[in-house]
Amino acid sequence: MASSGQPRIQWLGRWGFMLAATGSAVGLGNIWKFPYITGEYGGGAFVLVYLACILAVGVPVMMTEIAFGRRGRGSPIDAIRRVVNESGRSSMWSLIGWMAMLCGFMVLSFYVVVAGWSFSYLWKMLTGGLAGTSVDEMAAVFGANNANPITLGGWSTLVTLLTMIIVGKGVQEGIEKSVSWMMPGLVLMLVLLIGFGMFSGGFGDAVDFLFSFKAGSLSSEGMLAALGHAFFTLSLASGAILTYGSYLPKDASIGRTTLSVAVADTVVALMAGLAIFPVIFANGMDPGEGPGLLFMSLPLAFQAMPLGTLFGALFFLMLSMAALTSSISMVEATVSWLCDNKGMSRKSASWATGIVLWLISTLAMLSFNLGADWTLAGKNFFDWLDYLTSRWMMPLGGLGMVLLAGFVLKSETFRDELGLAPLPYTLWLAMVRYVSPLGILVIFVDALGLYQVSFAAHWPVLLALLVLVAVVGEAISPRLRQALSAR
Ligand code: PHE
Repeated sequence: MASSGQPRIQWLGRWGFMLAATGSAVGLGNIWKFPYITGEYGGGAFVLVYLACILAVGVPVMMTEIAFGRRGRGSPIDAIRRVVNESGRSSMWSLIGWMAMLCGFMVLSFYVVVAGWSFSYLWKMLTGGLAGTSVDEMAAVFGANNANPITLGGWSTLVTLLTMIIVGKGVQEGIEKSVSWMMPGLVLMLVLLIGFGMFSGGFGDAVDFLFSFKAGSLSSEGMLAALGHAFFTLSLASGAILTYGSYLPKDASIGRTTLSVAVADTVVALMAGLAIFPVIFANGMDPGEGPGLLFMSLPLAFQAMPLGTLFGALFFLMLSMAALTSSISMVEATVSWLCDNKGMSRKSASWATGIVLWLISTLAMLSFNLGADWTLAGKNFFDWLDYLTSRWMMPLGGLGMVLLAGFVLKSETFRDELGLAPLPYTLWLAMVRYVSPLGILVIFVDALGLYQVSFAAHWPVLLALLVLVAVVGEAISPRLRQALSAR
């Protein structure tokens, strides 16, 4: 039981944390998921809402999460409980931690399947299994790759095993080192692909698709997807960032660290979009192709460029590494909770988690072959895991955390833990109290169909609502005024 007496292991300074957090944030979410959902929800408007959600919700939630972790020095459940107890509030709030831990676990259950695709494409690159030159041929390769549950399951099992072995070895070893060469490598590959895309004939269309904002082109579903993706891509409300934060040394600046991680993450996602969409438009592919988008498009580019096999193999190697540095962060919460509360060693906690994970991920993997028809409301098991986690659990968990930090806890707690100057602190407080919760709520209200919000038409009303709530909120609670007068 390492919870109380012993000091918790710490990262090798701020840099170590930053590498690990960036490793967690940058992954399949940026390179696989972002392009394909952008394609599904029609491009520019989705991208704009996603960027707004990163700024208005993602960044404040991430700071809050890291601060919870460092203050409470434990898994999400333990850390949140300690922090609320410190303010004399009910331990019930640690339910947010339970949900986060469950969420990380659920995400990993489908994430290993996608990571398995990446590993199998690496293998195909090396062994010449990606020789097609047309979109149809690539679609056939992707389909065949999914059709056999034994091979597909083999790849996801490999990812599960690698994840649990790395996690079993401990938090510092390996993670920091691998991120420090994998990240620049990945960015280099993306630069190469973007350069190639510039001459492919589809670049103009891609830029137009990604960055031209067509008002009214985004559905309520798309807004919720953009919000959920902001959480997913920054690894929020799923235990990962909070648990990593619990290893962060006291002297590191949470604000600066968060900003660097968020910027790196966003840049990689936009680069991935700029790498993939030119290939899609140049080959007349449908941007709304779905989860196979990356795997059907990029191999075409690699086929067409000089030294394509080498670059393709390097790309899928980097992508697989990026997936691993994310997947290990998703179970860190569960493993650290088992170690602290159940007296397990890291190794046995990892194996125990790994076995359950393997069972659930196998079900998710079957969604692409034997279990394709096991659907509920039109979604298979894989879709449900994705849908429940990023559309509902993450935004709800984030909402709980910002409300907790903004209104419920003693003001000293976060002022002290974040260590910000008065102005940035005030800004953070205004965000966690009003901007982030209202943003999340409005998108929920819209998605549930309770009231249809047209953002393009209603923004003055929404702004007025924000100001009104903030004024009333501040009249009730004196903290924001205190923060201002502390200058
Ligand atoms: N942020 C990771 C990615 O974009 C996914 C992730 C989600 C990691 C939740 C940890 C927790 O790939």
